[in-house]
Amino acid sequence: MKVLVTGGAGFIGSWLVRLWLREEPGISIVNLDKLTYSGDLARLEEAAGDRRHRFIQGDVCDARAVGEAMEGCDGVVHLAAETHVDRSLLDGKAFIDTNAYGTYALLETARKKGVKVFLTVSTDEVYGSRAKGYFTEKDALNPTSPYSVSKAAADFLTQSAARTHGLRAVVTRGSNTFGPFQYPEKVIPLFVSNALSGKKLPLYGDGLHVRNWLYVEDHCRAILLAFRKGRAGEVYNISSGVEMTNRELTRRILKLLDKPASCVQKVRDRLGHDRRYAISSKKLRALGWKEKFSFEQSLRDTVQWYCRNVSWWKSILEKSRDFKDYYARAYGNG
Ligand code: NAD
Ligand code: TYD
Repeated sequence: MKVLVTGGAGFIGSWLVRLWLREEPGISIVNLDKLTYSGDLARLEEAAGDRRHRFIQGDVCDARAVGEAMEGCDGVVHLAAETHVDRSLLDGKAFIDTNAYGTYALLETARKKGVKVFLTVSTDEVYGSRAKGYFTEKDALNPTSPYSVSKAAADFLTQSAARTHGLRAVVTRGSNTFGPFQYPEKVIPLFVSNALSGKKLPLYGDGLHVRNWLYVEDHCRAILLAFRKGRAGEVYNISSGVEMTNRELTRRILKLLDKPASCVQKVRDRLGHDRRYAISSKKLRALGWKEKFSFEQSLRDTVQWYCRNVSWWKSILEKSRDFKDYYARAYGNG
């Protein structure tokens, strides 16, 4: 089988590409990625030299690049996106372009080329915040940031392609994902790398916002299952049973690093900060998915990975001047 993976030089996409190549000898992957600030080919070193993997640098908004990349593909797994909420609050244009229009361009090409299955990787953030209980796939969406609104557009466009054009299009909505190779602007790698650099850990607001934490390999296995077994037009939530406040998460990170609580600096809250994300993954579990990794062990492994791979995240931070600029503008924490 030949598939197109978009965003395969990103955090989750590169994990998916590596896992797929490892586990399915007959797979052939075309990997289309623009290599924005968050894309990095170092994540794909394991796949270098594997003739079943072809990397193309290109933009999902560019219909010609998309058409060439999709040539002869039976399926598409679409992960390419602008992904960081704080960046979307400063400037949402790239989010609308890539996440909304880029998804449309991919779906149009897939339909015209007769692709058999198209999976869009969406997020639990499209549901918005919920004080108690858990969202199911039947609940209405209530996205709040330019990031989550643009992801909701991608999510709905994918469902509409199934409804109106009969494309076997499937959506997964994953919760907060973590693991090695995550770009150090997301909270876990940011806090670990800051602690290792002797910097403060900027905890937004009262730190009582709740997230559900999913290990990256578990997320990728869920995507593969939905790709293989998901039904046309259906949505599948992916979440682990692990939810906690940012305060508790921070405490655990500091404990693993043997650092004091004084490393934490309370900073002003994110604008429109969603209080709690909470989804039920019963529907996907009925297809046979369950987590393989415990949260405690995978957080420990992830923290250790960042301790052992300082050169990877330091080189990213050095390259990424705009990261420092955006951060300084947002929180006065450059
Ligand atoms: P990431 O930022 O690490 O990677 C995104 C990748 O997309 C990068 O390699 C980047 O170069 C590429 N890209 C961006 N714009 C592009 C464009 N116009 N054309 C082609 N490539 C482009 O993100 P991630 O954390 O790996 O997230 C991957 C997907 O999973 C996204 O769709 C995201 O919304 C979704 N998701 C992420 C999480 C999470 O916690 N990280 C949770 C649920 C869903
Ligand atoms: P993040 O990793 O950006 O993921 P998301 O916004 O998609 O949930 O943030 C996770 C949580 O951590 C979120 O509630 C915001 C909080 N946070 C901080 O407190 N400080 C930080 O510096 C960052 C980046 C996030």
